[in-house]
Amino acid sequence: MMIGQEEINHIRSNVDIVDIIASYIPLTPKGKNYFGTCPFHDDHAPSMSVSKEKQIYTCFSCGATGNVFKFIMDYEHVSFPESINIVASKAGLNFHMQTSKKPVVHQALYEIYDLSAKVYQNNINTAAGKEAKEYLKAREISEEAIKEFGIGLASKKRDLITTLLLGKKYRSQDLLKSGIVIEHQGDYHDIYYNRIMFPIWDVSGKVVGFSGRVFHGEDHSKYINTKETEIFKKGELLYNYHRAKDYARRVDTIIIMEGQLDVIRAYSVGIKNVIGTMGTAITKKHALLIKRLAKNVILCFDGDAAGAKATMACSRELQAIDLVPRVVRLEDRLDPDEYIKKYGKEAFERKLASPMNLMDFKLLHYKKDKDFGNTIDVGHYVKEMLGELASMKDDIVRELTLKKISEETKLDLTFLRTQLEQLLDQKPIEPIVPALVTTEKKVRKSKYQKAEMYLIYYMLKSGEVIRTYDHKITYMPTEKYRLLAREISYYYKTYGEIIEADFITFVSDSEMMMKAVGEIISLDLKDDYTMEEIIDYINTIRDYNIKVETERLKKLMRSEPDPLKKAAIASKIVALKVRGENYDS
Ligand code: GTP
Ligand code: MN
Repeated sequence: MMIGQEEINHIRSNVDIVDIIASYIPLTPKGKNYFGTCPFHDDHAPSMSVSKEKQIYTCFSCGATGNVFKFIMDYEHVSFPESINIVASKAGLNFHMQTSKKPVVHQALYEIYDLSAKVYQNNINTAAGKEAKEYLKAREISEEAIKEFGIGLASKKRDLITTLLLGKKYRSQDLLKSGIVIEHQGDYHDIYYNRIMFPIWDVSGKVVGFSGRVFHGEDHSKYINTKETEIFKKGELLYNYHRAKDYARRVDTIIIMEGQLDVIRAYSVGIKNVIGTMGTAITKKHALLIKRLAKNVILCFDGDAAGAKATMACSRELQAIDLVPRVVRLEDRLDPDEYIKKYGKEAFERKLASPMNLMDFKLLHYKKDKDFGNTIDVGHYVKEMLGELASMKDDIVRELTLKKISEETKLDLTFLRTQLEQLLDQKPIEPIVPALVTTEKKVRKSKYQKAEMYLIYYMLKSGEVIRTYDHKITYMPTEKYRLLAREISYYYKTYGEIIEADFITFVSDSEMMMKAVGEIISLDLKDDYTMEEIIDYINTIRDYNIKVETERLKKLMRSEPDPLKKAAIASKIVALKVRGENYDS
């Protein structure tokens, strides 16, 4: 179903962007606007401003900008039509748009994974799937869980290739790109066979790969994951994210585990705010995704030494974006799956209800394998912990932990404090304002560029300015501003007025335009203008154009051998000069 700009504008005008954004991130009022920590970059200060009046948000640090639809698209990783549905439902409007259309980019890949998942799921319910089913049953994976998590079976070497190729719908290069088909001496076959298959979804819930587990016979690797593709980036994806996100936000708590079977187990017993790292190291992108879910993060990795190490690594990545997780450690080297099976859901929930503070976990972690009768060991321990405390922002936690170290090591508290201060002095002080993201911003704008931006700023505010711009046939030299001004003028002619938040919808499919709008909206100019100022901007732009054109003609004239043509160019230059001197004000 197609939907018109007017209807979209109507839906938008039924909500207040302040309420909607406040349901995702805390906002504090300040003057006319509201401020919050920007969820779209690693923000340490509240850089995002939300304007109730204009119904738009702007991040002064990373430049993210837009209206309520754009916010939801970027925050929830949904398409534009999906964002309209979300806003409509938040507004209580009886409106639903079909959004089942497949994404156009990489459509073949999405389809291939989708179809493969179906083939695998079908397999497990046939006679060939008997053994796999028995394996899952022995591991106490319920039929419900098999369905919910789309668990399937890759049985023979040509299952997929037969189905996918017989339809002749997919080009062999796409099949190869997907990483589930391989070419061998001109012949194609499946990469996965004799494995239990777990689909892997991206953050919006589309299958983008698989993790296949051996379940009988010998194999050198327990799990094989699909290779990375344009749509499957291990560093940007967490297992079960799309299923866990709503509930995690509601309870403001997210539990992170390692294995997909841990996640499936927890989810099956009703602990639904859980995601998995799939054994990979947490990246900054992961950390930012996690930060969008909840303020309370609980790391519940495997109870073995590798799990402890992964807990350390993951906590560092989270701390780097000011997220301090808490930690659950499981006894007897059990992983969450085994723990829940052995002790039951209630015992596990008790563990989740009293997680360790991060610094207490680190104390324990560094204490392990150390002999406190050995001075060198104690020295290492103190140094390691002071290093951790140096990156801990919470003063109280820092002081309490110092006390604990002092008690354990019998080192004087004042001495430890001095040591820590010295360490902090060495640490480079973080800039309050994070480095600007684009280099473009660092470049000082020239006079004519400022004129272009200021002119557009007031075009967005006033029909009078747009009409003046049209009337004077202003040609903006900078491409993005020229296109933007043209869109504004077009929009005004079509709809009779400009409401910034609706205009954003109109240009939101062009990244270039959105960036230009962002730059202009975040200019801190006064609300009112005089016509003299507007004419001044237009004249500055015109002067610049004449200067550029004159220079071009002069160059042309110098290289022109024919004296007649030379003279013609010269008179053009004179005409330009006259125009420059005579233009009206
Ligand atoms: P089960 O033995 O099936 O219970 O798996 P697990 O969840 O206990 O796995 P484990 O703790 O050994 O590893 C945690 C996660 O790391 C797994 O869920 C996988 O996603 C991943 N992983 C484990 N082994 C391999 C492997 O051999 N190759 C790859 N690529 N990933 C693995
Ligand atoms: Mn495990």
